[in-house]
Amino acid sequence: MILDWSGLESLLRDAGHSLYGGEAISQLEHALQSAECAERDGAPAALITAALLHDVGHLVAGQGDDDLADGIDDRHEQTGVAALRELFGDDVLAPIALHVTAKRYLCGVEPGYLADLSEASRLSLALQGGVMAEPEAERFGRNPHAVAAIALRRWDDEAKVVGKTTPGLDHYLTIARRAAHTRAGALQ
Ligand SMILES: [Fe+2]
Repeated sequence: MILDWSGLESLLRDAGHSLYGGEAISQLEHALQSAECAERDGAPAALITAALLHDVGHLVAGQGDDDLADGIDDRHEQTGVAALRELFGDDVLAPIALHVTAKRYLCGVEPGYLADLSEASRLSLALQGGVMAEPEAERFGRNPHAVAAIALRRWDDEAKVVGKTTPGLDHYLTIARRAAHTRAGALQ
């Protein structure tokens, strides 16, 4: 599925009704909380947009609430990037593509990171390839998009607060339209 703006907007609005796999909040709440964390930390429009849309692949793939428990990895980071390719450039897409790898990286290099993950996140880690070992971690650290992907990953981890109030979807879609088709800061 390739998304246009109206398809993206309706997918996100419908996500208010689907749970974020294994967590106690909806996919839309998780998306808005992620974007709010990025905005709070002064991220550029492209990275706020990446935070908002990092789990769109779950929605495109129609992730079931029991998929994790059933041992299914829907490879949502790849599905999401494929669906968003017409709308955004690499400054939005690369952090989305790498946010799962960034979790494996942080588990490998940061003491205590793994222990602090939510239960659902620990469960999916095993399906996603497990803790990253040294040679791969060194390679990942050299990726030009690693810093953005790691920042996104930390907002993702933080964005699971039940009942938190955030700005609405319209606010973040306005930011997303600013980030559309900008290449690596060209229009920032
Ligand atoms: Fe997420």
